[in-house]
Amino acid sequence: MAAPRDEAGMSAYLSNETRKWQERAREVANRLVRPLAAKYDRLQEYPWEIKEGLAAAGLTGVWIPREYGGAGGSILDLCVIVEELSKACGGVGVLFAVNALGSFPLIVGGTEEQKKRYLPLIARGEKLVAFGLSEKYAGSDAGGMRMRAIESGKHYILNGEKKWNTNGGAADLYTVFAVTDPTSRSRRISAFIVEKGTPGFKIGKVEDKMGIRCVPVVELEFDDCRVPAENLLGGKAGFGFKHAMMTLDRARPGVAAQGVGLAAGALEFAQVYANRRIQFGAKISSFQMIQQMLADMAMKVEAARQLVYASAWAVENDAPDTTKMAAMAKCFATDVAMEVTANAVQIFGGYGFMRDYPIEKYMRDAKITQIYEGTNQVQRMVIARNLIKEVGQLTHLESYIPVETQRGVNPEDLVAAEAVGQSS
Ligand code: CAA
Repeated sequence: MAAPRDEAGMSAYLSNETRKWQERAREVANRLVRPLAAKYDRLQEYPWEIKEGLAAAGLTGVWIPREYGGAGGSILDLCVIVEELSKACGGVGVLFAVNALGSFPLIVGGTEEQKKRYLPLIARGEKLVAFGLSEKYAGSDAGGMRMRAIESGKHYILNGEKKWNTNGGAADLYTVFAVTDPTSRSRRISAFIVEKGTPGFKIGKVEDKMGIRCVPVVELEFDDCRVPAENLLGGKAGFGFKHAMMTLDRARPGVAAQGVGLAAGALEFAQVYANRRIQFGAKISSFQMIQQMLADMAMKVEAARQLVYASAWAVENDAPDTTKMAAMAKCFATDVAMEVTANAVQIFGGYGFMRDYPIEKYMRDAKITQIYEGTNQVQRMVIARNLIKEVGQLTHLESYIPVETQRGVNPEDLVAAEAVGQSS
């Protein structure tokens, strides 16, 4: 029997290596994740048995270079795995992907020694890792953080709090961002690798969440926490914000893949249910209104998937438009996830609203993807800033756009006049 289009057709675009990861992740998702998804959603507990299964299948550390004990896979390999896991459970998708988010600062900014010390442990799945950037009063404005790190001999003393730490509590390692130079604008922040159990570091409030309930989201508290100076990321202070932004560029295609997985998973359930549910003496899949919904859902899932692949390629190849591509994929795919999962609930009708049906969980899990790793408002801002920067390469179009003349008006004065108008 021919495989569905997204399995056979889409795979044609992927290398054999990437297809191998995709198939392996699909097998784990169907054997281990799907049967346990509802249980851990209800319990809101970390699914250690799933984590062990991911490690046993060799999926942990696919994104880590071979020289540091990883599989040396690409961002696309990471994305296809996240998609497959998220099709079965959005929580497990992020439970897996957040280890990439937490280890990317080491990969992009760590010293050789730091990489050798920590990455092999993460690659083997022996150590889980989390990423500590946000604070209660610094979410979208990540640079506005207040947590402090003060140099003291061979240590840095960390004081403050972090918010929205996904994987916190389960993780053994934390890449934590703190202010080292409050007087500097561009070199204000540095990153540290903090190990679980370091005196003065503890897990605070554990959040009770709408979705992704199997993965913990917590507050981190630092009270005169002494971190060895060799755990300053990259061995140099002041590069934390840059490393955070470079990390997010690499990680956002993974959130986009989570969105695609959630949308694709919900669509598959909607296809099956619409073809089973009988109303007015016919399968509801024969009704044109349902058909239109299914068709629109399928088009959007496919478009989002293609953008994930394109953004993964951009990151992997260090393309000049990497930041924009990563933001576009994250924003588009997670908006699609929200729309498609909500429409899947609609197709299930009243049953879709019920907890004993599998579909409402997709909608709950999808919501956070529009918020974390940069809200979709921040993504649109990043995209627009990059579009404006690109204008410098489009000067050859200027001569095709007429410039109107009006007596007494110099077009060059208008910008200043407008700015004065705005500020008054
Ligand atoms: N790569 C490298 N450097 C970058 C960069 C990038 N993509 N983007 C910005 N920078 C550099 C700039 O070049 C600039 O450097 P200089 O000072 O040397 O010139 C510096 O960073 C500051 O840049 P901006 O002026 O653009 O910074 P900004 O304050 O205006 O903020 C922002 C930019 C895009 C809004 C950023 O703050 C941002 O991405 N906010 C969202 C934060 C976010 O995504 N948080 C998610 C937390 S993680 C999470 O959610 C985890 C989870 O639970 C799973």
